Amino acid sequence: MGLIKHTVLLTLAFVYGVFTIILYACISIKNGTFFTSRTEKENLELQIARDRLWDLSKDFAGLSHHIITLASGFKFHFLSNEAPGSPAALKSDKPLVIFVHGFPDSWAIWRHIVSSPSLQESANLVAIDLPGYGGSEGLEKYSATRVLEKMTELIVTLRLQYGVDDESTIRKKKTIIVAHDWGCVISMRLAAEAPSLADRFILSNGPLADLVKSNVMRTIDSARKIHKDARNAPSSSRPPLLQAVRTLKPLFRQLARSGYIFAMQLPVPLVEFFLIGGNQSLMRAVHKGSHGKAEFTPRDAAESMASSMGPSLPESKTQTSNGESYPSTVKYSREFANVMNMAGYYRDGAALSRWHKSLETVAALHHLAGGNDVQRTSSGAGLFDEGAPGVLKASSTVFWGKLDIALDPTICLDGMADYLVGDSQIVMLPRSGHFTPIEVESRAALETAVQWAVQGEKEDIGVAVQRTYEDAKVIARR
Ligand SMILES: *[C@@H]1O[C@H](CO)[C@@H](O)[C@H](O)[C@H]1NC(C)=O
Repeated sequence: MGLIKHTVLLTLAFVYGVFTIILYACISIKNGTFFTSRTEKENLELQIARDRLWDLSKDFAGLSHHIITLASGFKFHFLSNEAPGSPAALKSDKPLVIFVHGFPDSWAIWRHIVSSPSLQESANLVAIDLPGYGGSEGLEKYSATRVLEKMTELIVTLRLQYGVDDESTIRKKKTIIVAHDWGCVISMRLAAEAPSLADRFILSNGPLADLVKSNVMRTIDSARKIHKDARNAPSSSRPPLLQAVRTLKPLFRQLARSGYIFAMQLPVPLVEFFLIGGNQSLMRAVHKGSHGKAEFTPRDAAESMASSMGPSLPESKTQTSNGESYPSTVKYSREFANVMNMAGYYRDGAALSRWHKSLETVAALHHLAGGNDVQRTSSGAGLFDEGAPGVLKASSTVFWGKLDIALDPTICLDGMADYLVGDSQIVMLPRSGHFTPIEVESRAALETAVQWAVQGEKEDIGVAVQRTYEDAKVIARR
């Protein structure tokens, strides 16, 4: 790309980011949240919620807190209905289900689903905090390599600690990964580039980065072509520029929904202002929106904020039953310490940058694949061949809340079936928005899907999900 064109694009991106921040500030001033801080009652409710979600010594609805230290020394925080490495976890024949949250959440976005007694009865549930979120250790940079290396090491370790693999046998039982938003983006990369990590991926409302990239390129190319063709055909009824712009409509729609991504790229003080300035107006709006059309109670508000904020000073002094506390990188000095970690995923290219796998990772994935990964690559190039970029090579079930205000279906879903392998499906939830783990109907659908996977996928996913979400529709199958 020419230097001038590059500079123009960067400038436009900067201006759009700044415009977005001003726009959001204006909206929250108009809504009256910008200049309203929390009341005493709301503060109290928040502290109670933080204690409920983050006190390491207390169980949450049948789940206990755990801090796991990986061989690399990195610490993850998670909740589970079974202690990792315990005889019960090692000997159990229950499938392992790992839940991965997105922005701006934590393990607690799954609080309704993982509380389900029937799920707890039939599976080992593990709800993690991503690096830099909640009670997990932070990273210096949130590049694909750093994030995916830690995630892979975590999943390999959890599989050992919950009896999926041992020294002599792999895959003694099923591993299922359930993910939303950024967790979905990351898990889609794992399904594409490390498919032996799990037997089933259940993925909701997060973009498949390579598909989005290709849909954007395709849209621009066809607009270009239409513009050129129309210009060469003078009899055309419509001005060529207008036709080209019409073709670009989905792209503009997605751009209009993506202003926040541009805001995330700005200098740190602006990003902090955007995310938590004006009495955390943005977070409050996101939390309210995440509950869809249902009533948004003071308890919902407090739990959502506690989920985004992570542990506070009182919880930093708590310990798990085996004496672990939160990693030292979790900062309690500010009310909202992890915003730049959250922004880091957008700023450091976690979605699209290349994952340079370490030798340990390559060896671990090869082992989990039972040596099958070499034969599977069609080119015969062997271990380091990744195949077509972005294609999910593990069985995946994609759940899509159709009313998602952040993700345009044309850009994010068109052509997704080409990115799926056998035993994969896309299920549309027509009345749900982006936050499928929170909205009452969609979380029931997700819970049903997890139950379906845990019980061995014995029936059609569409039939199973329609029992809890009547008009859920399987729109693609592989
Ligand atoms: C937060 O709200 C208070 C009023 O309760 C207001 O005085 C203050 O300026 C607001 N903070 C910001 C950063 O706008």
